[in-house]
Amino acid sequence: MTKEKIAVLAYSGGLDTSCCLKLLEEEYGYNVVTLCVDVGQPEEEIREPEEKAKKYGVYRHYTIDAKEEFAKEYIFRGIKANAVYEGYPLSTSLARPLIALKLVQLARELNAEAIAHGCTGKGNDQFRFETIILAKAPDIRVIAPIRDLNLTRNEEIEYAKKHNIPVPSESKKYSIDENLWGRSIEGGPLEDPMYEPPEEVFAWTKNPKECVEEEYVEIEFEKGVPIKINGNKLNAVDIIKESNKIAGRNGVGRIDIIEDRILGLKSRENYECPGAVMLIKAHKALEQLVLTREELKFKELVDSTYADLIYRGLWHEPLREDLDGFIDKTQERVCGKVILKLYGGSIRVVGRESPYALYSKDLVSFEDKDMDQREIVGMVKFHGLQAALYESVKNKNKK
Ligand code: ARG
Repeated sequence: MTKEKIAVLAYSGGLDTSCCLKLLEEEYGYNVVTLCVDVGQPEEEIREPEEKAKKYGVYRHYTIDAKEEFAKEYIFRGIKANAVYEGYPLSTSLARPLIALKLVQLARELNAEAIAHGCTGKGNDQFRFETIILAKAPDIRVIAPIRDLNLTRNEEIEYAKKHNIPVPSESKKYSIDENLWGRSIEGGPLEDPMYEPPEEVFAWTKNPKECVEEEYVEIEFEKGVPIKINGNKLNAVDIIKESNKIAGRNGVGRIDIIEDRILGLKSRENYECPGAVMLIKAHKALEQLVLTREELKFKELVDSTYADLIYRGLWHEPLREDLDGFIDKTQERVCGKVILKLYGGSIRVVGRESPYALYSKDLVSFEDKDMDQREIVGMVKFHGLQAALYESVKNKNKK
């Protein structure tokens, strides 16, 4: 069946994707269908693309609410894997495969010939979108107009002016990407790694120096995912929103790092991920209580590999699902409560309990007599056997 001359464009309403919209029509000769996938960005970032699509007279515009799917199938996996890449809880990276899948789904429904996105050739997102599209729809053409025409920012602005696309004012200094799991802030003056992020870049977190009152929060987990906050049962989306609110009002979750992009470029990144920081901290504390030393040690490797796969756009690599098998098995026992104390931007675990706790107060106590200390002597004697042998061999061979 021949395909329709349609390109489905991931559309945010911003400068890049608005230029793409016009380029797809003018340079590539497509009817453009715009898609905005709602993964928890602010209200106006859902409304704006819709209004702009109408204004630019696109063929059709779609909004897909994917918040619940994002929370349950992506963010919750991130929590179970304590997924953090170089200090970054992967908020933007986790949403990209889901957006790509929705693009493919819509392109299929419309029998479209192409899928388009506004990524440049320098960033990570082009990888994250295209690996998925290639795996799921190898027959669909992928177009990235900005990258494919090798446009610079200034060339884009010129093109925008010619086509009545509003150019963001100077005050829009930063490039911001926001979803349920966090806010990424980059570009503008922040490209200087010595430039301290000014207060104006933060929207979810209160200035830590103003957080003068401490707050306790209790989080309950079932099979590795949060289900209650302070005793209230909440659905997946709301528990993440609530976590962002609580940690954010305590100044928790500001992250400033130099990050290694997929291409190898180092970039300076700022994030606000209050909920992610709090939930992963609590989740790790519960794992420490219920998993064995061997499991914890091995899981650290699994977790960092998992985060790497997410970051590098390899959500569809079979290894990710293999690791999910291991992770889900360990999470069967990650049930219980964690109490955290938040204060002035800091966060501390101050309590934990679980029906699966491997911790035994009786055994570890100095008052216990059931565990006969004398039985340990033999074990202690042979504990450092190889190191002791090494010491004697070394002395023997000394000339
Ligand atoms: N560096 C992060 C990543 O690759 C975030 C990129 C966010 N984009 C933005 N326009 N701020 O996942």
